[in-house]
Amino acid sequence: MPLIEWNEKLSVNIRAIDDQHKKWINILNELHGAMKAGKGRDAVGNVLDELVEYTKVHFASEEKLMKSNGYPLFAGHKKLHEDMVKEVEILRSRYSSGAAGLTIEVMQFLKNWLSEHIIGTDKNYGPYLNGKGVH
Ligand SMILES: [Fe+2]
Repeated sequence: MPLIEWNEKLSVNIRAIDDQHKKWINILNELHGAMKAGKGRDAVGNVLDELVEYTKVHFASEEKLMKSNGYPLFAGHKKLHEDMVKEVEILRSRYSSGAAGLTIEVMQFLKNWLSEHIIGTDKNYGPYLNGKGVH
């Protein structure tokens, strides 16, 4: 069973962003699966790397879209992204140094962060960007 499944409640009503959120969810589910299957540190680490790198790619893409359309809540939104990038970088370095493992609590944190961020923050730019013709 996947850790998290995309559903319509997570839609921001912009196709490209919904697709990116789905991809992020897929990588997180892959990480969860690797962890549960007891895969080795290298295999799990590779998926964690992928999650960290994709988080950055996705945030950059969202930020570009908000900025180029003059979204008024851009600065605060970007700050939340920067804080999250720091969190996942810390997670990755603790994991790769052997200082910490990946636990179900970490998985829950990532899952909750994503769904709360989409619902509480990303969804706010949906109507604004739709009004600018972005769908
Ligand atoms: Fe966001």
